[in-house]
Amino acid sequence: MNVLKWYDTHQRILPWRAEKGQAPNPYYVYLSEIMLQQTTVATVTDYFERFITKWPTLEALAEASLDEVLVQWQGLGYYSRARNLHAAAKILAKLSKIPSDPKILKELPGIGDYTAAAIASIAFDYPIIPIDGNIMRVFARLFAIPYPLPFLKKEVFIYTSHMADGVYPGDFAQALMDLGAMICRPLNPKCAECPLTTKCQAYNEGKVSEFPVLKIKPEKPTRYGIAYILLCEGKILLEKRPLKGLLGGMMGVPTTPWGNEALNPEDFFKFEKNLEWYEVSKQVKHTFTHFHLHLTVKVGAIYNTNTVIFKSDGYGQKIFDGHWVTLDNLENVALPTVMKKVIKQIPDEIFKKDSKQI
Ligand code: ADE
Ligand code: SF4
Repeated sequence: MNVLKWYDTHQRILPWRAEKGQAPNPYYVYLSEIMLQQTTVATVTDYFERFITKWPTLEALAEASLDEVLVQWQGLGYYSRARNLHAAAKILAKLSKIPSDPKILKELPGIGDYTAAAIASIAFDYPIIPIDGNIMRVFARLFAIPYPLPFLKKEVFIYTSHMADGVYPGDFAQALMDLGAMICRPLNPKCAECPLTTKCQAYNEGKVSEFPVLKIKPEKPTRYGIAYILLCEGKILLEKRPLKGLLGGMMGVPTTPWGNEALNPEDFFKFEKNLEWYEVSKQVKHTFTHFHLHLTVKVGAIYNTNTVIFKSDGYGQKIFDGHWVTLDNLENVALPTVMKKVIKQIPDEIFKKDSKQI
């Protein structure tokens, strides 16, 4: 197998890897795979070394307190991994060994399909290929698979279902990882140094840059709304947004519902009869995962925070349940980014002057 031959001479030296001819340490493999979830090899290396110095065995890690583990984890991010690592170590220490079957590994906290396959193959030569983004890229090019994610993943599973049989699965998995990281890179793959050129369909058809096929992202729609900055005696009116929906339960200035077209403000909010609203000339623009939001910002002022304010929802009027927050105290309120952008539209002088004067 070309890939294994290449791995023999080109493999990366990584602290959790077994030396040539030596059996891997399952604890090292397990620990490294948890750390490598969402984190690069370069970052993980130092943390891994510190962990195994402090806790050289699974049993030692199981006896550590969660706080100690969290302290050592500081800076690696995604702290649920550290909590799961500690919880799983306690379970594994009781079993007195790490299971080799990926189905059993997957029952442990913090271990999904990929990590289970990686541990099983690398630590125990279980015939399975861990398929992450890097390995998917290699196979998408090798077989010129014409599908984007999420279909690509299933295709790669089908293409590779028996590939780990009859090889050294641990070396094979790590060879693919190293090939993906060093040769078959996302940009500028080094095909000239690749052991797979004769078999690589994308390479042989001169189409390497076309694979993996990228998912066509649908255009994000734009939604519109009006945000109201109502001021009174140096305070601003905020509301807790409904629990359901985007920004659920977070604080913000009141807004109309966000619709596909610009709305008439009178339809939705009546803070006070005949209140003059001043419209800020610049719209606030913010992009969420699934849409762009354009908010028109209106600023108004009233004289008494006890004024009863009505909100009209298109069916009738309800008393608006808001909270007056001192402008100077706004920094202490957890506001979503879009609301911070809206509040930035308050003219600076209002922060300095009593709002009664506007
Ligand atoms: N990424 C995830 N697991 C890895 C491993 N064992 N070696 C190198 N890169 C990895
Ligand atoms: Fe990737 Fe190029 Fe090797 Fe094909 S020949 S597997 S595209 S590096």
